[in-house]
Amino acid sequence: MADPGTRHFLDLDVLSDRDLDWLSARACELARGAAPASVPATVVNLFFEPSTRTRVSFELAARGLGMTVVNVELDRSSSSKGESLEDTAATLAAMGVAAIILRHPETGRCHQLARAVPAGLSLLNAGDGAGHHPSQALLDLATLMDAGIDLKGQTVAIVGDIRHSRVARSDLALFGRSGVAELRVAGPDSMLPDRLPAGVVRADSLDSAVRGAGVIVMLRVQHERMDRQAWPDPASYHRQWGLQPQHLALADPDCRVLHPGPINRGMEISGAVADGPRSLILDQVRMGVHTRMAIFEWLFSDGRLS
Ligand code: NCD
Repeated sequence: MADPGTRHFLDLDVLSDRDLDWLSARACELARGAAPASVPATVVNLFFEPSTRTRVSFELAARGLGMTVVNVELDRSSSSKGESLEDTAATLAAMGVAAIILRHPETGRCHQLARAVPAGLSLLNAGDGAGHHPSQALLDLATLMDAGIDLKGQTVAIVGDIRHSRVARSDLALFGRSGVAELRVAGPDSMLPDRLPAGVVRADSLDSAVRGAGVIVMLRVQHERMDRQAWPDPASYHRQWGLQPQHLALADPDCRVLHPGPINRGMEISGAVADGPRSLILDQVRMGVHTRMAIFEWLFSDGRLS
């Protein structure tokens, strides 16, 4: 049975404003060389969808805190023999595993599992379908802070496949709490959600989305969450929605470009922008490790907040 005392990292709602401040500040401290806490616990990476950045950085973060990390090879595990995720979680908990880092194609699966896991087993949501990706949003915030950018008063544009993106959902939730002046989204009609969170403005073109923006978040088209017939042609998508140097000329002169990766060059972003001076894409990857260390400290360390 779920234990109310066991802390999970499922979405941004589990974090108070104080937690958010602590986590983002701690990620920046760790990036500047602060000594990480020592966490004698075992975590398991359970990824039912492909991942490079998220899986490797959770693993590096855990190792940085002295944790033991096990990567379950799903095609060689009992889930391929029909074991439920709940039974897999109970099995891992019985071996003394302290946390499962779960990525799953089904929206809400992590929240559902959290209601059933044994006491003492924490769940970290590494992306559930089109649901949430809280560690990505947190690392986006930490990346901006580390680059000296305060979100307060900024105009932020999130562009691309908003509808199927868990990153968009978590970023909108987090940026909406960070005192931004304006939060805009833009993308093809078929890739916008039926309803936007209160206060989020829809821009009808890439130009109008990025005009005056201080932060631009570009998103990959989530082909895996669409019917094949809905896949856009990459070249025409790039012409209409691909971020190119001329768009940056419309943005704030100090604007920064984020992308959670993996990037599809020549589709949602040009190589010139991805590799250019405004891009923080590899900083996001770097800060991903520090942010996930901070998340583990928040979950486990004695020095954590109440
Ligand atoms: C994102 C994801 O998996 O939601 N990637 C990531 O975690 N870095 C975005 C994406 O896959 O497009």
